[in-house]
This record gives sequence, C-alpha cells and structure tokens, in this order.
Amino acid sequence: MTDLIHRAAQALRSARKTIALTGAGISAESGIPTFRDPGGLWDRYDPEEYATIEAFRRTPGKVWRMMKDFTELKTARPNPGHYGLAQLEQMGFLRCIITQNVDNLHQDAGSRDVIEFHGNMRQVICQQCDKTLPLEDISLETLPPYCSCGGVFKPAGVFFGEPIPMHAMLRSQEEAQSCEVILVIGTSAVVYPAADIPRVAKEAGAQVIEINPERTDLTSGVSDFLIQEKAGVAIPQIVAAIRAMAS
Ligand code: OAD
Repeated sequence: MTDLIHRAAQALRSARKTIALTGAGISAESGIPTFRDPGGLWDRYDPEEYATIEAFRRTPGKVWRMMKDFTELKTARPNPGHYGLAQLEQMGFLRCIITQNVDNLHQDAGSRDVIEFHGNMRQVICQQCDKTLPLEDISLETLPPYCSCGGVFKPAGVFFGEPIPMHAMLRSQEEAQSCEVILVIGTSAVVYPAADIPRVAKEAGAQVIEINPERTDLTSGVSDFLIQEKAGVAIPQIVAAIRAMAS
C-alpha cells in the first residue's frame, strides 16, 4: 500500500495536469450511503419510482417526500477525503474535480473548481420557468413545492432520463482529453456517460489511478493501478507523501 501511495504521489508531482472523478464512495465516510453497496440507496428505494424524470413528473410529491426524509444530505460534513482533494488543489497538484455527487461536500471542503456532472440537490429548479433557488430558500411545508409562476420545483440534481448539464459535459470531455493523470475515487463506474470519463482520459494517454476499497469495472483494463483503501484514508496519505517529497 505504501508503495502505491508513493507511486500516486510521484505521478501527481510529475504530471502537468491531474484531475479527479469522484462518486458516492468519497462521501460514504461522511455518513451518506452509496447507491450500489449492500444497504445502499437503491436497496431502500426503487430508482424506477424515485430517480427517473418520468417518476418525478408522475408523482413529484412522493419523490419530494423521499428527498425531505433524506436527512443525511442536509447534515453531512466533508471528511478527510474531501479535505485532502481541496488541499491538493491549493498545493497546485489537482486542476479540477468532476463529481457525480450532488451533496456539495467538495465545495464545503474548500475545493474551488468542481464540475457537478449530475447537478446539485441543494438547489431547486422550476420545471416551468427554470428559476433556480437554494433549497433552504423554499418552504417544504406542502409538497411538491411550487414556484411563484405556478410551476413545480424539482431538486436540481440530474434524474435518470435527463441530460447531463451541457457545460458539465463539455468541460469534462475537455479535461479528460487533456489531463496526464486522473484519480478515480469512490465510483463503481457503471453509470454512463460519467463512466466514460476515465476511458476517454486513458485513450488520450493519461494514467488512471483508482482509489476504492473494492475492485470495479475499470480495475482490470482501464486503471493503471488501484489503491484498495477508503478515500478518507488514502487521499490524506497521498497529500502527506507529496509534502514529504517536497521538503
Ligand atoms: P455507487 O454506489 O455505484 O458506487 C460507490 C463506490 O464507492 C463503490 O465502488 C464502492 O466500493 C466505493 N466505496 C465505498 N466506500 C468507499 C470509501 N470509503 N472510499 C472510497 N470508495 C468507497 O456510486 P456511484 O458510482 O457514485 O446517479 O454511482 C454513480 C451514479 O449512480 C450516481 O451519481 C447516481 C447513481 O444512480 C444518478 O442518480 C443520476
């Protein structure tokens, strides 16, 4: 393990541009359940009933009630994995984070350049006039919440069946094609088009470094190596290794 941490630190030090792709696993240590691990969100809620845009249009009140109950999202705080990535950005070793997460924890940890591939659940968007507001600015007394124009507010996260926000899609493609190293952290890499990002980077010649306690679809074939460890353990170790090399 120490060898792989050292190898990752070396790679970040010598790369002109490193980016990160993160998934639910990086927020697991903040108490937010992942989607596909045992006991994950999709064990508790059928995505067909709660996570598709058709389901939202059909029964917006039901989807909102599930969201309102999902208190982990409101109370969660960043963990050492999030803080470690923010430090790497400040130190000049990480250009940006492409995240599939909708929890805002990278920003809360201090990361500045965060591309939200699946939107953000801490904001709402009116389905009629596109007005976007912070979640805390609307009342959730009666559900679904309505905009002053009469339209229904939807959480601003991407639901299955919705397109990836155009700016996030274009920027992610650009970053993947031009990076020299990509850290792929806490994602099962089975949801597309996000799962294409490491493959695009690899084809453009980048080194792919995975951080995940489990093997994934990327591990043999796409990843150069896997640091088989929790993000909240491995990332601070990489930061410490880079600091030790610099001193
Ligand atoms: P998944 O639940 O599919 O995968 C979570 C990954 O995190 C797994 O590979 C775990 O092994 C790993 N993991 C668990 N704990 C970890 C830890 N402490 N440190 C590092 N890794 C850990 O979540 P995603 O890959 O993010 O999309 O799922 C992708 C998309 O599927 C989500 O953005 C969401 C979901 O449906 C939409 O809702 C549109």
